[in-house]
Amino acid sequence: MKVLVIGGGGREHALVWKLAQSPRITKLYCAPGNGGIALDAECVPADVKNLDSLVALATKLQPDLTVVGPELPLTLGVVDEFQSHGWPIFGPTRAAAQLESSKSFAKEFMQRHRIPTAHYAICKTVDEVRATLPHFHTPIVVKADGLAAGKGVVVAKTKEEAASVAVEMLSGKMVGAAGTLVVLEECLTGDELSFLVFSDGERVVPLVAAQDHKRVGDGDSGPNTGGMGAYSTATIVDDKMRDWLVHHIAEPVIAGMKAEGAEYKGVLYCGLMMTARGPMVLEFNCRFGDPETQPILMRLESDLVEALEASVGGRVSEGDFRWSPDASACVVIASAGYPGTFEAGKKIAGLESVGAMERVKVFHAATSRRDDVYFTSGGRVLGVTARAPDLATAVERAYAAVSMIGFEGMHYRKDIAARALKK
Ligand code: AMP
Ligand code: GLY
Repeated sequence: MKVLVIGGGGREHALVWKLAQSPRITKLYCAPGNGGIALDAECVPADVKNLDSLVALATKLQPDLTVVGPELPLTLGVVDEFQSHGWPIFGPTRAAAQLESSKSFAKEFMQRHRIPTAHYAICKTVDEVRATLPHFHTPIVVKADGLAAGKGVVVAKTKEEAASVAVEMLSGKMVGAAGTLVVLEECLTGDELSFLVFSDGERVVPLVAAQDHKRVGDGDSGPNTGGMGAYSTATIVDDKMRDWLVHHIAEPVIAGMKAEGAEYKGVLYCGLMMTARGPMVLEFNCRFGDPETQPILMRLESDLVEALEASVGGRVSEGDFRWSPDASACVVIASAGYPGTFEAGKKIAGLESVGAMERVKVFHAATSRRDDVYFTSGGRVLGVTARAPDLATAVERAYAAVSMIGFEGMHYRKDIAARALKK
């Protein structure tokens, strides 16, 4: 079968790498892909922000299955569009993807369905923000309603700061149209957990859980990023907690969406805070996490194609996934300046030596290749991922590989999974 993966980051490289292992796939395309992905799939140019370009591509390639990496095409309705042409595609429709594309929709949905989440208020105007702020304790989380490429959430230490961030968002200066509504939220504390499930619109099957590292610096310092590293172990969530999360969060979401006429198929990413009051939802994403997908798929032993097809075909079951008991860890190497402005085009050294290491895979997030030499082409450049029987060894192996790689200005966190290893 012919499979098309849409996107071109580290998450898509992990998807392509795993799919390439399936005996059922005869041809694998990635649109647009990147320098590293080109070794595992045929990269084809595409503008993922433009549905017409994706439809034109599928018309040409006639894929038997399409998997979408980034949220933007999903929230624009790529699934609805492909379905109308009869092309099987994994993911939620535009209406179902609102769980990610509108934070106010997600908050009100959670309230309607009694899904645990932080207290909140939705404000349309600066006056509403000022009238609402006295009801919150500090710190206060201010969120833009729409998609803001990771720039739409600010944890404000004071009410004055919260007010000025909300004013900036509502004025359109900060995140454009994504800020026409703002959500004020109680600030939660605890460990964050990325809990991803597959659904066929009705049933839910959890993937192994992972933890991301959102801040740019060690010890969770500095600004938020797309994610600087992640790990997954069998012990991150025990069976009892896993069942609780399925019954109290994932299943009510899928049942609620169906009841509201927006059946949710695909992967649902529940971003959780494990608070003293119990697990609470920080956000939903309608797609695989990046970089969580890298360590998660490193642990998947069964054929990913079967699980994707089960979701599309309405028959997901636990049997679609067989997981390794091993632990895995991914360290993201970023360009100087990331998450702010950065320079691209730096030559990357050391990839061949890492290629020879066992149970280590370097997923390319933003690279280009010329004459067998790789160059950086974005903020997050590589996701160096390793697997081992225990987390400490997986982390050690990942950092051993990182130490062999070099490019001008590269930076990475030195403390991926460090908190879990201390426990
Ligand atoms: P979101 O885009 O909603 O996932 O938010 C991005 C990040 O902001 C999360 O991964 C958390 O680290 C942080 N965050 C979001 N909401 C809250 C909250 N209510 N309390 C504390 N931190 C939050
Ligand atoms: N790593 C966070 C995300 O994928 O949204």
